[in-house]
Amino acid sequence: MPRLTHALAFTSFCAATAAFAHNGVKDPDVMARMNAMSAIAKATGTLSDMARGKTPLHQAKARMARDTISLQAAKVPALFENQATDPKSEAAPAIWDDWTDFTAKADQMKKAALALDFTDRAALRVTIRDLGASCSACHKDYRIEK
Ligand code: HEC
Repeated sequence: MPRLTHALAFTSFCAATAAFAHNGVKDPDVMARMNAMSAIAKATGTLSDMARGKTPLHQAKARMARDTISLQAAKVPALFENQATDPKSEAAPAIWDDWTDFTAKADQMKKAALALDFTDRAALRVTIRDLGASCSACHKDYRIEK
């Protein structure tokens, strides 16, 4: 598909890897924030599939996915507030050094989710780019992929 953007490739990659990323995590706080990220990734994958025409654009499902992302995005400060660690955690210590910036990036994800336009596939394809960009913007500084 020639129109496949980097953002879309990125988001579907995240959704695909989410299922097994947190096997063996013992710390409950780390588990909770990983579960939240997995829910975000799954919802983003649903939207990305619709944007790419892999699945039909379904208004109710798209709205549900958007709501999952904005709800979980709003929970990010509470989920990460405690500097919990686990050998499996991919959270960078910079999160707690640059807390204001980190939470601003969560807010950016929420805004991008709320700005999604489901009018048609073209509109979704355009607006999902900002959502994908919001994931990368935060992961770049605050996630150390293992
Ligand atoms: C505010 C910062 C931030 C934003 C925005 C963000 N993430 Fe994350 N994400 C993280 C951090 C930090 C981790 C690592 C958490 C850990 O391992 O303790 C993570 C982990 C993940 C994981 C791995 C979860 C697991 O089970 O190990 C996935 C998948 C993921 N993010 C997907 C996404 C997607 C998709 C988006 C955008 C729609 C997104 N993230 C937006 C910070 C963010």
